[in-house]
Amino acid sequence: MEQYVMKGGTPLTGTVNISGAKNAALALLAAAIMTDDTVTIENLPDVRDVKVMLTAIEEIGGKVEYLDKHTVKINGSSISALSVDYEYIKKIRASYYLLGALLGKYKKAEVALPGGCAIGSRPIDLHIKGFKALGASVDIGYGLISAQAQSLVGTHIYLDKVSVGATINILMAAALAEGKTTIENAAKEPHVVDVANFLNSMGANIRGAGTDVIRVQGVEKLHGTVYSVIPDQIEAGTFMCAAAATHGDVLVKNVIPKHLEATTAKLLEAGCEIIEYDDAVRVCAKDIELSPTQVTTLPYPGFPTDMQPQMAVVLALASGTSTVTESIFENRFKYVDELARMGANMKVESNIAIITGVEHFTGARVSAPDLRAGAALVIAGLAADGVTTVDDIHFIQRGYEDFEEKLRGIGAAIEKVDSDHDLQKFILKVS
Ligand code: EPZ
Repeated sequence: MEQYVMKGGTPLTGTVNISGAKNAALALLAAAIMTDDTVTIENLPDVRDVKVMLTAIEEIGGKVEYLDKHTVKINGSSISALSVDYEYIKKIRASYYLLGALLGKYKKAEVALPGGCAIGSRPIDLHIKGFKALGASVDIGYGLISAQAQSLVGTHIYLDKVSVGATINILMAAALAEGKTTIENAAKEPHVVDVANFLNSMGANIRGAGTDVIRVQGVEKLHGTVYSVIPDQIEAGTFMCAAAATHGDVLVKNVIPKHLEATTAKLLEAGCEIIEYDDAVRVCAKDIELSPTQVTTLPYPGFPTDMQPQMAVVLALASGTSTVTESIFENRFKYVDELARMGANMKVESNIAIITGVEHFTGARVSAPDLRAGAALVIAGLAADGVTTVDDIHFIQRGYEDFEEKLRGIGAAIEKVDSDHDLQKFILKVS
């Protein structure tokens, strides 16, 4: 089974280029089938979740053509099935974006119910509330969620909780509804804005994305477009935390600094020096002692829940006591026990982690419990004394393109191995 193996202790230095945002890309790919014209999407991250979504689109009859590793052409005119089966939704929850896209375009859609996942129960009641408000009948049974409508009619929808997925799914269905839809308490994440911009480039009429009130004037049909995915704010934040935890000096390129403001603010509080450029952020933590601080995850522009494990690793190496409060998901501290094997001193009470910083971590064998926690354990391994191996790296490969190559590019002693022989070879090489 593939593992990452790394030897810690080297401050990461140099320049890393950030890929397109996974969580924007997954929604854009689903929305791309809402026209019968051809859509070209550029700057796609070359990650497993994107590949799964593209396969799901082909499975229902859509045409997918890779122009290169990061660019695809999609044409939804040949879609023949309106049902996305369990195989895809089991692999990526985001397949449920096909529900909003197919319902919007064909007024009928069926998708396997997404199961729970490592970080929490992940309900979709708000998605269903939105579809029903637009006039769709929604049935759940036999592991499927089916939605259909004679016609979708614009309405006023208030989301009881801020939900990225529900905001995007409802946005897609409303884009081709009759009349005006207002979504209140909408999510403001950059990838919500990216989906709205993408749909507008296809002829939709969406205003207010990025605020908590989004107004959609439904249109008859959408046309083709060429669109480039925004940079991944979570991949960028992950490398920023890697620079901080290893006392390095890293220039993180191809980013939108505004999208990183919460992460930047917390790393500044932790004592890092941060310089912002137009499309890059430099994080320097050379010869500094990391300082403790308090973090609470919140919907954008608050501190991202997807950055919680990575920031916790930085604070676990700070000189003092920090707290990390996870307010979005109920089970996002599964990495704490793994980190304890490396010497971290963290205690979780309800949804708060109390972190007492330690001088250093020591290398150990750990396993990734989920995507972002897996990336956080790699950061810990790069900061630790000695050798660390991280198992279950398939989680990490879902959302980070060329993760170990990019880390090697800034000086990390890390390799992906899939045999004990290769593992021993690496250990011999670095010892
Ligand atoms: C998206 O998940 C992201 N995934 C997650 O990233 C991210 O953590 C999350 O947004 C929050 O930013 C993708 O974009 C593919 P939500 P999503 O709906 O849309 C509750 C990663 O690591 N809720 O904003 O599923 C829910 O339980 C992944 O890349 C309902 O109660 O998140 C949670 O407490 C992990 N009912 C809160 O809202 C609903 O119908 C926020 O969830 C929907 C959500």
